Amino acid sequence: MKTQLANQGPTSVPEKFEEYQLTEFLELGHKLTGIQLDESKRSMLYARLTRRLRALRLSTFDEYLALLKSGNPEEIETFTNVVTTNLTYFFREPHHFEYLRDNVVPALIPPGKIAEPIRVWSAGCSSGEEPYSIAMAMLENPSCKPGSFRILCTDLNTEMILDTKNGEYREDSVRGLSSERSSKWFEAPANGKILAKQELREALICKKLNIFDSWPIRAGVHIIFCRNLLIYFSPDQQTKIVTGFAKLQRAGGYLFLGHSEAVKDVDKYYKRIGNTIFQRTSTKV
Ligand SMILES: C[S@@+](CC[C@H](N)C(=O)[O-])C[C@H]1O[C@@H](n2cnc3c(N)ncnc32)[C@H](O)[C@@H]1O
Repeated sequence: MKTQLANQGPTSVPEKFEEYQLTEFLELGHKLTGIQLDESKRSMLYARLTRRLRALRLSTFDEYLALLKSGNPEEIETFTNVVTTNLTYFFREPHHFEYLRDNVVPALIPPGKIAEPIRVWSAGCSSGEEPYSIAMAMLENPSCKPGSFRILCTDLNTEMILDTKNGEYREDSVRGLSSERSSKWFEAPANGKILAKQELREALICKKLNIFDSWPIRAGVHIIFCRNLLIYFSPDQQTKIVTGFAKLQRAGGYLFLGHSEAVKDVDKYYKRIGNTIFQRTSTKV
């Protein structure tokens, strides 16, 4: 479809959305992602969707809406990627990673004991800076060895999942990564990019997952990071997701939320052990 459309048709794009078009885009975006999209997204959507129109050589938003409504899977995936916000950076909310290295790792891997492999889930991992920061923080504790943990990295945005898998970042745009960590944990191939070292990349399992779909994840996840994703959802949706996390974790499991995510009912199943850090209690779900 893409190739066929790319070879024909006009390149000029409409100057603005008609109101009904914006409403349809917002509704479709909400249906596909669960994200509460509103009028404030107008200019972001306009910029991103006119780019799409040009790439497809379409001249009206109606044609683009028709393409989406036809159920074209490739375009639905692209549209879904367009409506997500992917801001992230290395060691965002640094106290989480310090707590992980200094408190969680020693609790889960007591020195001198053989522990079961630690299972971590980075839900809404974006382009991977979060799971790579988790891996670095864990390995910075000497009792944690490569191979002793796995990080499941999921996101709805397929481009982000690919970026996470690749583990390659532009050297001039990494935020939050100190030069010491960059040289310890990344290789610098000669293309202005840095590449996460094999021992980090092999700890990651990357999968596309809409948080509202069923989770093909075995219970017993030790650590869940779900940061700066729940803010996009309604309080009821947030509670449903956190209850789902509680079902996946045994007593003692850790949950890290974003700094502005005050989720109703989190205290039902978790006790607060730090700033936006929670530990699963034994209360049954
Ligand atoms: C702002 S980023 C947060 C990234 C990272 N956790 C952090 O705190 O830096 C939110 C991520 O959630 C993803 N996302 C949005 N809606 C989603 C959904 N319904 N299911 C799974 N991921 C979703 C977006 O694609 C985006 O990459």
